[in-house]
Amino acid sequence: LKKIAVLTSGGDAPGMNAAIRAVVRGAIYNKLEVMGVIRGFEGLIENDLIPMDSKSVSNIIQQGGTILKSARSKEFMTKEGRQIAYDNLKQHHIDALIVIGGDGTFTGARVFSQEFNIPTVGIPGTIDNDLYGTDYTIGYDTALNTVIEAVDKIRDTASAHSRLFFIEVMGRDAGFLALRSAIASGAEAVLVPEISTDYKKLDAFLKNSYNKEKSSSIVLVAEGDKISGGAIKVAERVDKEHPDYNVRVTILGHIQRGGSPSAFDRVAASRMGVSAVEALLDDQKSVMIGMVNNEIVYVPFNQALKHKKPLNPRLLELIEILSI
Ligand code: F6P
Repeated sequence: LKKIAVLTSGGDAPGMNAAIRAVVRGAIYNKLEVMGVIRGFEGLIENDLIPMDSKSVSNIIQQGGTILKSARSKEFMTKEGRQIAYDNLKQHHIDALIVIGGDGTFTGARVFSQEFNIPTVGIPGTIDNDLYGTDYTIGYDTALNTVIEAVDKIRDTASAHSRLFFIEVMGRDAGFLALRSAIASGAEAVLVPEISTDYKKLDAFLKNSYNKEKSSSIVLVAEGDKISGGAIKVAERVDKEHPDYNVRVTILGHIQRGGSPSAFDRVAASRMGVSAVEALLDDQKSVMIGMVNNEIVYVPFNQALKHKKPLNPRLLELIEILSI
């Protein structure tokens, strides 16, 4: 192993830059050459690669986004696209790949690594925290902090007007971000895709909590919750059925993806980045770096992708206990 490439792909997440820095410096420390691919797999197809040295990753550990840019590549899903990507890797004498991203990224990486026998290691970077085999993904902790800061602010105005807010949180089809931020922000309820909350239950809860003369009520709605159909739909319905409730909606949107990474994400990204280089040196071929009980583990891509990560039911229970 002499030369590796690193890329970020899919939705960006705070801490991706810290991971890039760790990969580049971890590679240099181990006497490897390293190139950065611009715009993920898209850049691999377009042959947009740049050599990276220690200085090229100076002063980025604290920056959100990704200096390598990101994309969701359609062309990489085709055999022809992947062939071009492989030819470009060979042209640059690159022996192995480190990809930072989520499940879409690892799905592509797995196929590519098998097709062309290119050793590939993944670093989980997504605010959704939805990857099986790791307790945390890079960006999740920062996004949680962003969500609770926003909800705290909404709580101020909700209390001033005794309002009921439905706040929509990202997470694609998983409820990790919504559930943990609901606990941390003291939300009265949370709607997540993993648990079906029907309207009857929601209604009973609202009658119980909102009518208890609480100064405000906040319900976090995971964007992927199919039953409610999202915060706007659920709010419309509640508003129609209870015109006496003072209902408002906020969709937090992409602010959840930005910002300077938290200390937790910076440390996790630094550990995972160096571990990814070490995994390649250790002859790993198709694995994701994970963190379980604060220890680094290797998770085969097919395992990380095949299983659905379960929500911790105890955390759901906590919401119920703490919102009485
Ligand atoms: O996977 C990260 C994520 O932010 C999800 O939470 C969200 O559903 C999606 O990406 C949004 O994607 P885009 O930025 O392409 O709109």
